[in-house]
Amino acid sequence: MCGIVGYTGYREAAEVCRLGLLRLEYRGYDSYGIATLSPSLSVYKHVGKISDSATSSNHLRGDTGIGHTRWATHGVPSEKNAHPHLDAKKKIAVVHNGIIENYAELRRGLEERGVVFASDTDTEVIPHLIAEHYTKNLFQAVESILPMLKGSYALLIITEGEDTLVAARNGSPLVLGVGDGEYVLGSDALPLLDYTRQAVYFEDGDTAEITRDGFTIHNKGVSVSRNITEIEWNADEAKKGGYQHYMLKEIFEQPEVFANTLSSIKSKSEAVDMIRNAHAITIVACGTSANASMIFSYLMEGICHIPTRVILASEFKYFPTMFTDLVIGVSQSGETADTLAALKLAKDRGSQTLAITNVLGSTITRVASLVLYTRAGPEMSVAATKSFTSQVAAFLQIVNLLSDYKLETELSEIKRYLPEILSTDLSKAVDLCKNATTLLYIGRGLFYPVALEGALKMKEISYIHAEGYAAGELKHGPFALLSPKTPVISTCVSNCVYPVMMSNLKEIKARNAPIIVIGKNCDKDLEDVADVCIPLPAVSEYGAVVLSSVILQLLAYQTAVSLGNDVDMPRNLAKSVTVE
Ligand code: AGP
Repeated sequence: MCGIVGYTGYREAAEVCRLGLLRLEYRGYDSYGIATLSPSLSVYKHVGKISDSATSSNHLRGDTGIGHTRWATHGVPSEKNAHPHLDAKKKIAVVHNGIIENYAELRRGLEERGVVFASDTDTEVIPHLIAEHYTKNLFQAVESILPMLKGSYALLIITEGEDTLVAARNGSPLVLGVGDGEYVLGSDALPLLDYTRQAVYFEDGDTAEITRDGFTIHNKGVSVSRNITEIEWNADEAKKGGYQHYMLKEIFEQPEVFANTLSSIKSKSEAVDMIRNAHAITIVACGTSANASMIFSYLMEGICHIPTRVILASEFKYFPTMFTDLVIGVSQSGETADTLAALKLAKDRGSQTLAITNVLGSTITRVASLVLYTRAGPEMSVAATKSFTSQVAAFLQIVNLLSDYKLETELSEIKRYLPEILSTDLSKAVDLCKNATTLLYIGRGLFYPVALEGALKMKEISYIHAEGYAAGELKHGPFALLSPKTPVISTCVSNCVYPVMMSNLKEIKARNAPIIVIGKNCDKDLEDVADVCIPLPAVSEYGAVVLSSVILQLLAYQTAVSLGNDVDMPRNLAKSVTVE
C-alpha cells in the first residue's frame, strides 16, 4: 500500500520519479505527488491515477527528488492529503509508506507548540518533527526523530540547502538501486530496472544518507554495510508488451510460468526437506495465496498424508494455542502485513518457518528461516493470476517430489494443455455473468478452493457479488439466493465426487438458477443440466484444477472488460496489503 520512489544523480529527477511511480501504481492509485530540489523545493500533486493525469510533473526541475503514489489510510484521497508532506516553512519534503500509529499524540504535541497542520494524514507529523530538530544536517535530524515514531515506515526525505536524500526503513519495504553516478530508490525493485540491476535491500532500523557520490547506512546509530544483490527481473517483464491489460498479459504468461516454477523446485533442497520432515503443517496466507494454499492442504492430506491446514494470516493470532512444527507463509509479494505478522508469531511460538514467495529480497524472505521462490516474474495486475498458478505449480511439484505417487504424467498434461485453454470461447458464460446480481461458485475437494478463487477474481474486478462455496454447503443457507439472476458456476469432472456434484447441479437447476459448468469434453449429462458448458480436455483431476482456474480467471477478466471496468486497478484495492 503506497509506493515511494527517490532519485539523485544526473537526470531530471521528476521524470525518473514519475516513471518509477507508474511502475509502483499497483500499490495504490488514489493520488500521487513529486518533490524536487533545484535548489529550491518544488512540489506537484495530483488526485487520481498517474496515467489519468492531464497535467504532469514535467515542469519540476532538479536532479534530486522523491515521489509517492497513495492508497489512503488516514484522510480521504485529496490534494492536501497526497504526499509529499512538508514542514511549515515548506523546506522539508517527506514521502512515507506505512502507518505512524502514535501520530495523534505527536500531532497534539506539535499543535500545542504552535504547528498548523495542512493535511489529515499520519505522515505530516514527520516533516514538522524534523523541522524542530533540524540544524543544518538532515540526516542527523531524521535520526533524532525516528525513535519518536511508533508504527511502520519507509521514508524518503529531502530538504532545501542539502543535496542529500535521506531514507529510513522500519517494517515497510525499501530498496536502493546503485547505478553509475546515480541512485534510485523504490518500495520494490521495479522502479530501478531502467537504470540498474544492482540493489541494496534495507533492513528494519536502517537509515541511509545518499548523495550522487555515494551512500552510507546506519543502524542503531552504527555504520553498517549491506550486500549488493543482482535483481533477476528485467524492465521488459514489467511492461504490458502489447496486451490491453497487465492482467491479460499475466494470464497468457501462465504456460511459461507453470513450467518455470516446476523446474525451479528441486528434490534436494532444504525447503523440500523441511516439508518432508514435518509432522504437521500450518499455512498462513491471505486472498489468492490462501486459496492456492488450500489446494496444497488437500494434496498433502490426500497424497502425502501430512496433516496440513490453512489459517487466514489475519486470524492466526486469535488461535493462541495453535502450534505445528512447520508454519509456511505463502505470499506473492512477500510484503503482506498479516502474513508477515503470523509468520513472526509462529517463530515466537517455536515453529520452524518457511516462506513461499515470488519477490526476491521481500520482507518475508528475512522473516522466515528458509525461502522457496515461485519465480513467476513481476505481477503488476492487482488481481493475482500467474502467481496463483505458480504457487499451485510449486505445490504440485513438492507433492510429486515427496510422495511415492508420482505426478509426472499429470504435470506434463498441464504443460501441454495450458496454451490451448487460453483460447476457450467464453462469450456465452460472460453474457450470463455480466447481467447477474450474484454469482455462486461451487466445488468439492480440490475444486472447493478453485471455486473460492474463481469468485474472488470475479468480485474484485467485475464488482459483481460472487461467493465461493463448498458444494455441500449450498443447501445450508445459500440455496435461498437461487433465482434466474444468480448463475451458479462449477467445475465438474469425472472423479469420485462426480455423482454427488451432478445431484447438486440438478437441485440447482430445479430452482431455475442458470448453470455454467466446466467439464471434461462436456459429456451428455453435463450438457443436459448446464445452460453453458465449457469444455476441458481429458486431463487428470490435478490438470482440471489448474486449467479450470485459468478459465475462471479469463471469465472474470472478460466479464470485467465487457462492463468497462479498470481491470488492472480495481476500485478501493491495492496489490500489496502492507497494513493490518
Ligand atoms: C487477489 O487477486 C488479490 N490481489 C489478493 O487477494 C492477494 O492475493 C492477497 O492480498 C495476498 O497477497 P500476497 O500473495 O502478496 O501476500
